[in-house]
Amino acid sequence: MNVKKKMIQVGCGGFGAYWLEVIMPRVSSFAEVTAAVDVNEDALKNAQKFVGLGPEKCYTSIQKALEENEADFLNVVVPPQFHESVIDAAIAAGLDIICEKPLGDSLESSIRICQKVKAAGRKLAVTMSHRFEVEKQTVETMVKSGAYGKLNYVVSRLTTKRMLQSGSTPETLISGALIHNLDTIRGICGCNAKTVYANCWIGAPELSSAVSGLVILEMENGTRAVLEESFANGSGMDGWSDEYLRAECTQATIVADHRQVTVKSDMGYPYPRSAQMPLLENKYWDHALIIHDFVRWLDGGTPPVTQYEENLQCCALTYAAIESVRTGKVVDVQEYLRKSLEEYS
Ligand SMILES: NC(=O)c1ccc[n+]([C@@H]2O[C@H](COP(=O)([O-])OP(=O)(O)OC[C@H]3O[C@@H](n4cnc5c(N)ncnc54)[C@H](O)[C@@H]3O)[C@@H](O)[C@H]2O)c1
Repeated sequence: MNVKKKMIQVGCGGFGAYWLEVIMPRVSSFAEVTAAVDVNEDALKNAQKFVGLGPEKCYTSIQKALEENEADFLNVVVPPQFHESVIDAAIAAGLDIICEKPLGDSLESSIRICQKVKAAGRKLAVTMSHRFEVEKQTVETMVKSGAYGKLNYVVSRLTTKRMLQSGSTPETLISGALIHNLDTIRGICGCNAKTVYANCWIGAPELSSAVSGLVILEMENGTRAVLEESFANGSGMDGWSDEYLRAECTQATIVADHRQVTVKSDMGYPYPRSAQMPLLENKYWDHALIIHDFVRWLDGGTPPVTQYEENLQCCALTYAAIESVRTGKVVDVQEYLRKSLEEYS
């Protein structure tokens, strides 16, 4: 990396607090927060507490923060409906951008953001963090090595004990949570989605407002995937970062569960009956890896996997899945994207 990059963080409460407390210390050798913005003054205290900003570097106005501070990039950690306006301000100020998922709060907004970033010649990457956790990347690398045969299909599960008030809807289950698992599947299958069918519902409203969802994907290379996600169950089988993931290859089954990866096979030598596999080794994972690769891009390196044009396929899949929930039909993802590009360009 060249010189340490200066970052303005927009959104300091909610997940923004996690950025300030946990993520930024992990990347402190190549990125630092030099100013913070939040419409809620209380949330700005997180920037003072966790990264030591003075009150004069904490702003309730994004315009003022951009006028008074030079920076290399801006970090968008506000709710999705505000992503586009914050990105507009960053582009106008000539800054590159790192943005929390989902890129826009609709496919229309995501397309507009991509077009504006491209027209301005700026760089933008989306923090699809869970896909870049160590065990998911280990599974992806093992599948792509071909050492276990050809990939047939993938199963992904994230289920937790129910919450009384979840505040989520079928739409936000997909755009806020399942989006990570959908993008993980894209990575493991090594291609984009062809079709999606999604069914999401509130199962027992008298017990909980939490949502469950089942999704079936057919990928462009003929592989398939099934996803199960629920925050409404009587037991918590998984949890964020402890999800269950199974890649069925022709010679063996690769399973990730609670951050451990196992290979199982009944095909005989050289495949193990059951063996725990070593995880990949790297200095950075999840958010830190994405910021690392983004900063390398700013320094003239290759674009990260989550750069905006590539991420538009993740947005298309996410909003096609929401369309499927609304219509009850299988959605052709590429046709949905093509029509949307025609309509919104
Ligand atoms: N990658 C992950 O694992 C992960 C996890 C949680 C949330 N997220 C993402 O992080 C983003 C923020 O989610 P959240 O749950 O923290 O939201 P939130 O509703 O808690 O809001 C975060 C902060 O943004 C501030 N804010 C709202 N509008 C603003 C604006 N226009 N300008 C400045 N500040 C504003 C709020 O005051 C709040 O402090 C979303 O895109 C969400 O999807 C990602």
